[in-house]
Amino acid sequence: MRTSGNVPHPIPYQGSKRWLASTICGCIPGGVRTLYEPFAGSAAVSLCAATHSTANHFVIGDLHEPIAALWRAIIDSPHDLADEYERLWHEQARIGKTHFNEVRRAFNSNPEPALFLYLLARCVKAAIRYNRSGEFNNTADHRRRGARPETMRDNILRAGRIFAGRTRVLNAGYLDTLRDADTRDVVYLDPPYQGTSGERDNRYVRGMSFDEFRDGLQMLVKRDLSLIISYDGRVGDKVYGQRLSDSLQLRLFEVKAGRSSQETLLGRDGVTYESLYISERLLTRIERLPRMLLQPESISEELLLF
Ligand SMILES: C[S@@+](CC[C@H](N)C(=O)[O-])C[C@H]1O[C@@H](n2cnc3c(N)ncnc32)[C@H](O)[C@@H]1O
Repeated sequence: MRTSGNVPHPIPYQGSKRWLASTICGCIPGGVRTLYEPFAGSAAVSLCAATHSTANHFVIGDLHEPIAALWRAIIDSPHDLADEYERLWHEQARIGKTHFNEVRRAFNSNPEPALFLYLLARCVKAAIRYNRSGEFNNTADHRRRGARPETMRDNILRAGRIFAGRTRVLNAGYLDTLRDADTRDVVYLDPPYQGTSGERDNRYVRGMSFDEFRDGLQMLVKRDLSLIISYDGRVGDKVYGQRLSDSLQLRLFEVKAGRSSQETLLGRDGVTYESLYISERLLTRIERLPRMLLQPESISEELLLF
């Protein structure tokens, strides 16, 4: 497992914003009381912010129960979690290819954090997938054995240490997680990919429709909260996902993610850009925007000090 810039990353997670985390942290003004990450997953942004003490307190929330339980284990009982991961990791050499399915069966009848962590470390693309009966059903990636126990232990212990005593973990929907947030705080929102209302999204517990998220955002903007939102993106001229509208009073920026491998394969030149939306409230608190944020023409001159 790689550690970028000394930030620990105990949870391998498809869709992790690890690569964007330092740019997002660059948008968090100094002296922030609490950073909220209500669609936490692997909590890449909170990990980066806690490592660099960008905020004093952290609230990590996720609707998916095993994720919240795993974060609690990382913070409250990191040694036990690392021991159990180590035991599972060594067991795979003894048992062989059937081991992953045995762990998956054990997780589906008793979703313990260490079992979940091992499944994420070993499954295809570190992707959370469930069948219609709610059982984890992603398969093993037999080319990988998962992070070595000593690497995993180091990441778990360091993540536990930086969050200990100043972090609340919630298993809740994002609006519930944000119930106590106020204008002194900063909120980073990274919802699941846009789906249709009510439709299953196999990557996560359920998808979230554009309308549902827009309505939730409207309430957060009305509360004058400082928001940073990852939502859509584009490759070249092609936009993926519906853009959030101007009526939400959010400013759109883009971060260059590099050349898409698909485009390279096709011999095309499409560069991928990830959108970041920032609320007006937060823009008034930021002294300087990070250099990596590309601004549409509308951005005001005084923010562009780089
Ligand atoms: C795109 S992932 C977030 C990835 C994260 N930024 C990271 O760096 O790993 C979205 C997360 O939101 C969670 N989720 C889905 N619907 C939710 C909801 N309504 N409220 C809170 N969390 C939700 C999913 O379980 C998933 O972990």
